[in-house]
Amino acid sequence: MKGLILCGGLGTRLSPLTKITNKHLLPVYGKPMVYYPISTLIDAGIEDIMIVTGGNNAGDFLRLLGNGSEFGLKHLNYTFQEKEGGIAEAVGLAEHFIGDSQFTVILGDNILDGSIKKAVKAFKKQKEGAKVFLKEVEDPGQYGVATIEGERIVEIAEKPENPKSNFAVIGVYMYDSKVFDIVKKLAPSGRGELEITDVNNAYIKKEQMTYEIFTGWWGDAGASVDALFKANEFIREKKIRFSDVR
Ligand code: DAU
Repeated sequence: MKGLILCGGLGTRLSPLTKITNKHLLPVYGKPMVYYPISTLIDAGIEDIMIVTGGNNAGDFLRLLGNGSEFGLKHLNYTFQEKEGGIAEAVGLAEHFIGDSQFTVILGDNILDGSIKKAVKAFKKQKEGAKVFLKEVEDPGQYGVATIEGERIVEIAEKPENPKSNFAVIGVYMYDSKVFDIVKKLAPSGRGELEITDVNNAYIKKEQMTYEIFTGWWGDAGASVDALFKANEFIREKKIRFSDVR
């Protein structure tokens, strides 16, 4: 299984913090934000990784991460997203890297305290289609929101005004290589982006979508200054609990 970490976009919701750096390089208690999704993939046994960067200071990823030796990797792949065309556009850029493999996408601003290892194992057996992770939240309207009927997701709505459930779709997605055909057929949304929610709804329509409930702590650290602060707080408290704060 290959892995893709998305670090494009301008991070305007965190301006002025993102005026002179890329959002995913901002600190989350002692480490740059992008370290967390890298660790999540490696923990799940995914070591063939591409980072999609773009926006401000993309070159700093190379200076920071190089070939990933700090994480025990021999090599890291990079690609560049010219504009902020959306999460699905960023996924589309990895077609040549992914080839025919299944792969896991993680948004560079999503921080997960908990493993996705079991889900990766289950998805390998799934053979085709996609898998998403859901997390019950108090404020679903700022995320993709899943409507569940029985064992199936029947629809995902992107940041709906009237959410039909409290289940947010978190920023970890698993796909087969057919995803690239789906991305090529997408039209930009009202905000001018190719939406990952449209990709996921295409798999739901084909009845090839499965889901897992993510039981650990999850933070969309790039969503707002408050979310970034909460992520810092969570990681700090966790470090204190395990008494390795320096
Ligand atoms: O965090 C989970 C949420 O992420 C999901 O619930 C939503 O369905 C999904 O649309 C997404 O919503 P956001 O509004 O939080 O997405 P955002 O624009 O913040 O982008 C998330 C990451 O994706 C960002 O850290 C970098 C990457 N990205 C984003 C855009 C727009 C790119 O690589 N390229 C892009 O063009």
